[in-house]
Amino acid sequence: MEKIQALSDADKLYSSLKDLPEPVANPVLVVVCGLPGTGKSYFSKKLSERLPFVVLESDVLRRVLNKVPKYDRSENARLFQAIYLLSEKLLKEGVPIIVDATNLTEKHRRRYYDISDKLGVKLIMVQVDAPPSIVEGRLRNRINDEENSSGADWKVYQKMKKSVDKIKRKHYALDTSIDYTPVLEKIIEEVKMI
Ligand SMILES: Nc1ncnc2c1ncn2[C@@H]1O[C@H](COP(=O)(O)OP(=O)(O)O)[C@@H](O)[C@H]1O
Ligand SMILES: [Mg+2]
Repeated sequence: MEKIQALSDADKLYSSLKDLPEPVANPVLVVVCGLPGTGKSYFSKKLSERLPFVVLESDVLRRVLNKVPKYDRSENARLFQAIYLLSEKLLKEGVPIIVDATNLTEKHRRRYYDISDKLGVKLIMVQVDAPPSIVEGRLRNRINDEENSSGADWKVYQKMKKSVDKIKRKHYALDTSIDYTPVLEKIIEEVKMI
């Protein structure tokens, strides 16, 4: 039953995606990880402006499945099951993707490691971070940003901070409080290499 639910959720998410890039022979899977306000969506947009990617932003997809998000355990579980299935479907079709979600624990990241291993697609992990004082200011200002889909505030940041695992696989680390163009260029080079 849960599997059927997840498949139908994934279909719904798939239909909500606009402007899918042209399929390629070797699509890349980029997984962005970081606490709220660290700049994941900002970075994902920058990268997708440089290379063809579809961005799977969990905050946007959550609203496709739930008009009024609750951010509770069961909503999260259902959302991320659907995003895993959607990622796999897109990669099988040859569509390069950026997963823009907090992905704070290895438990949550493992599914992406498995998808990459199983499909033989290149995995690029990106750890996004910024000093807490900067994040606090950004989260306060973001409330007024019409393009923002995230409901997370400073309280949520502090709560989530307790559950962060180090990324066990090779990854890029970005401090978004400074100019990270050199790292962005390195990532672009790595994507282009395949
Ligand atoms: N490198 C940056 N330079 C300037 N502002 C940034 C940068 N990264 C993020 N921001 C701003 O900080 C806020 C939080 O960034 P966002 O990408 O929404 O974080 P996240 O997706 O990780 O929750 C947004 O208002 C965004 O525009
Ligand atoms: Mg975001």
